[in-house]
Amino acid sequence: GRSPRAAAVTAAALAALGLLAAGCTPAAGGVRGTPGASGVQDPYFPRLGNGGYDVSHYALDLAFDPDGGRLDGTARITARATQDLSALNLDLAGLTVAGATVDGEPAAVNRAGDELTLRPRDELPRGTEFTVTVDYAGVPEPLTDPDGSTEGWLNTSDGAVAVGEPAGSMTWFPGNHHPSDKASYEIALTAPSRLAALSNGVRVSTGPASGGRTRTVWRQPEPMASYLATVMIGRYETSTGTALGDVPVVTAVEPSLASATAALRAELPTLLARQQDRFGPYPFGAAGAVIITDGLLGYALETQTRPVFPASSFDRTTLVHELAHQWFGNSVTPESWQDIWLNEGFATYAEWLYAEEHGSVPARDSFLAAFAEEANWAFPPADPPSAENLFDPPVYQRGAMVLHKLRETVGDEVFDELLRGWAAKYRHANASTGDFTGYAESVAGRDLDAVWDVWLYGKDRPAEP
Ligand code: ARG
Ligand code: ZN
Repeated sequence: GRSPRAAAVTAAALAALGLLAAGCTPAAGGVRGTPGASGVQDPYFPRLGNGGYDVSHYALDLAFDPDGGRLDGTARITARATQDLSALNLDLAGLTVAGATVDGEPAAVNRAGDELTLRPRDELPRGTEFTVTVDYAGVPEPLTDPDGSTEGWLNTSDGAVAVGEPAGSMTWFPGNHHPSDKASYEIALTAPSRLAALSNGVRVSTGPASGGRTRTVWRQPEPMASYLATVMIGRYETSTGTALGDVPVVTAVEPSLASATAALRAELPTLLARQQDRFGPYPFGAAGAVIITDGLLGYALETQTRPVFPASSFDRTTLVHELAHQWFGNSVTPESWQDIWLNEGFATYAEWLYAEEHGSVPARDSFLAAFAEEANWAFPPADPPSAENLFDPPVYQRGAMVLHKLRETVGDEVFDELLRGWAAKYRHANASTGDFTGYAESVAGRDLDAVWDVWLYGKDRPAEP
């Protein structure tokens, strides 16, 4: 926006944010940037994410004190401006910001709800790479999702577990918290030395820190959506091994659950290898699982390379589901929350495939059971009525039904190629429902509207399965 009208709007918007009062006036001459938007207009969470920049890397340095639950953090964010930027937003819920810099210079800071606005001294011309640092601290508070579940930073009796689907990651670090902006991560955790501290990816260093603490650094080099970032601090029994040749596998389990879960934990490399045969190359350089006590989290979650399971949901089916998400959801990530069936429908279909190959239950039988279930017909998988329905049965079961009908329509051979091709084409990227239907039609070499109209977008249960 370079028109005078846009400049006036900008000044008014900045005044409203209290930024002009902080002594910053729009630059005279040079670029006339405008503030980046405070959301990316996600149909379900319009305020999640931010406009005007694209993050490439997060370096989070977090110190956690389990007595009192205080988190002290520095987030160092590398990003590129996608417009001439006079100010930019980050999503952050709770916590207190002590200060922020942009390219090493102090930036003006404003908080309004879950939006943190930073105004750099110098505007950032479109295309520039820049680095933001935010120093923050406080006792993180969990977040209640539209569906009533609790997520974000969750304190345990001796530590914490942090999870973030769909919005909880903003309770423990400032960021561009929408799945459309994926980035690499390095997460450093400083915690009492008696506790284990885990996160995504590979452990790159462990060393002593002041006050009887240890600093552990985890690196997730492949792109990750912020909702898949995780932290587990506590008394875990950890074990390391390998899968798929040389992929390090780190599993951690609450000690009282160690023996009961040992056999299934040991199956993880085999399950990954079978999925790799079906879905193509495993997209990450690390794998694992974390098993926590029941009562903290109401569901298992596919946190990247290190899915987390409440003890009572650590079963083979759920493990298959969360491992399948590493391809479908974590590597191929939804463009918006409306595309969530691309995660849950595929991970559910992976369960059906597993049951077919190893439990002699044909996928057609799983499909028929889902077809018969009333709850699955509440809404079409590609169109959840509101944010509280994003993880409801139709997203999972009807999502998987779409894939089964597609398989029946194109045949097993083309369907196999399609699963692998989808994971390959959008590897480490974002994809929408339209990308999927277009891709499927290109592989099938024909229009598949008959499948989409009834199974993906259709409101009513058809007469015939
Ligand atoms: N993605 C998780 C799964 O694998 C479910 C997450 C549910 N999140 C929520 N806020 N209800 O099924
Ligand atoms: Zn899932």
